[in-house]
Parts: sequence; C-alpha cells; structure tokens
Amino acid sequence: MATQLRDRLELKALKGDFGIEALGIDISRPLDPAISDRLRAAFDRHRILVVRGQSLTPEAHIAFSRNFGELEVHVLNEYHKPTHPEIFELSNIGADGRPNAVHPDRGTLFWHTDASFQAKPALATILYAERAPANGGHTMFADMIGAYEALGQAERERFAKLRVRHDLNISRLKAGYPEMSESQKRNAPPVVQPLVRLHPPTGRKAIYLGSHGQEFVGMPPLESLGMMERIMNHATEPRFVYEHVWREGDLVMWDNRATVHRGTEYDTAVEPRVVRRTVIKGDAPIAAG
Ligand SMILES: [Fe+2]
Repeated sequence: MATQLRDRLELKALKGDFGIEALGIDISRPLDPAISDRLRAAFDRHRILVVRGQSLTPEAHIAFSRNFGELEVHVLNEYHKPTHPEIFELSNIGADGRPNAVHPDRGTLFWHTDASFQAKPALATILYAERAPANGGHTMFADMIGAYEALGQAERERFAKLRVRHDLNISRLKAGYPEMSESQKRNAPPVVQPLVRLHPPTGRKAIYLGSHGQEFVGMPPLESLGMMERIMNHATEPRFVYEHVWREGDLVMWDNRATVHRGTEYDTAVEPRVVRRTVIKGDAPIAAG
C-alpha cells in the first residue's frame, strides 16, 4: 500500500504509438503489482518503455527485470558480470578508472535485434545507464511493426514466405571480431527465422531482421544482400525511429520482437559510458503473413 502512495505513475507517449515514458515512479523498490501490470501493458502496446532518474544497484536492476519474466544469461560467457551473471555490462572504463579508448562492443553499432541468432531470441532487453557520455553514445530504435504496416500488399505477401538465416559468428566477423571458437559455435549455431513475425500481445505483425540476419534461405546471395539492405533502409527511415539520448540513471526496456536498435558512436577515449543490461527470455518467433 505504501508504494501506491509514493508512486504517482504517469505515462507519456514518446513518438506517436512508438515508445512510452513512465514518470513518477521509483523502480529501485519492489513494485506494487498494479504498477507493474500497468508498465507491462504499456510496454506490450508501445514496444519501448523509458524510465528516467533512477538509481539502481545490479540487484535492484535484476529485481525490476523479474517483473517481466525469466532472465537469461548471454551464450558467450565473456559478456557476463562475474558477480551477477544475469547482467551484461558494456563499459569503456579501464583499470585506472578512466575511459580506455576501446569500444566495448562494436557489434552494437549495427541495426540488430538482440539474440535473433537463438532459436528462442530475447523477448525484451532492459538497459540501465550508470554513466552516460555528454556527446554521442545514443541508442536508436526502429519500429518494426510501423515498418511492416507501411508495406504494400504485394510486399506483405512476398515477405510472409521468406525465411532468414541468422548467425552470431558472421555478425561478429562483420563487426571486426575474430572467428568464434568451435565450442562457442556449438553454443550458438545458425538458426532460421521468419522475416515477418507475430507480436503475440497485440496480434500485430513485425518485420524481423537485423545484423545477425545473414541471408534469405533459397535466394541467390547477391539478390539476398540487396533485398536485406532495401528492407533495413525502409525499416530505419526516420519516421520509424526514436533516438534515446542517455542521461545517467535512465532505464530503457525494448521489445526485441518488434524493434531493432543500434548505438551511435562516441569518443571512447574521452567520454565514460557504462551501461548494464538484463534480458528477458523469449519464445521461438511465430511466422505471420
Ligand atoms: Fe543490442
């Protein structure tokens, strides 16, 4: 009861139907079930949930995340925070406490949807900014439901039949990382996903593609590459994009079933950026057309 008195939850639209900001709540404490239900409903409907001005320990971040489902641990253990395996930390702070000029994951600079290389990809990602750069290091989100609904009938029919091979090893190579080891490859083998997937909470349909998607099954490579580029160019047009400019204490939760995102560059030698994420487990995509 006390939490209800302290929290005065207000929901504010970010970009039309895409994204919502929750105001007047403190998510470092256990949520009242009524508040948690409203946040879940807003998230299901608007795909991105922003909560600013928070102060979250890793424990509080994990506890908040558990309101939305079971958490998962990244397939590659180099990403874990040793003390909290559910937390994946991206930081450019060196041992001396200063920016070290190394980007923690250049793969995040390409449009992608988290863990689309898994048979059961991440449902949602919940990212919290412990330190935010003064310039750059934003996150851009594209609305894949909006992008799907802007397609003509002929494209919708064609896209419904297409399947895409997703492969973490190849997307890492494209971002300049070395080949994964044999055991890493065994843990993350390529998977085939539908190009159009159902968004179960709303019954709407979303384009499902991003940098882990490598090729259309059964399509000549050049045609496949050209088609992927055209689809991603369409889906990431400014009309479908919300860009989040991080401040310390921001938390952003996004729906990987219906969005893609990418980070923007920042000066890793000067600007500190420390973000922590948790991931909510998802189900195998349901093909829709
Ligand atoms: Fe990501």
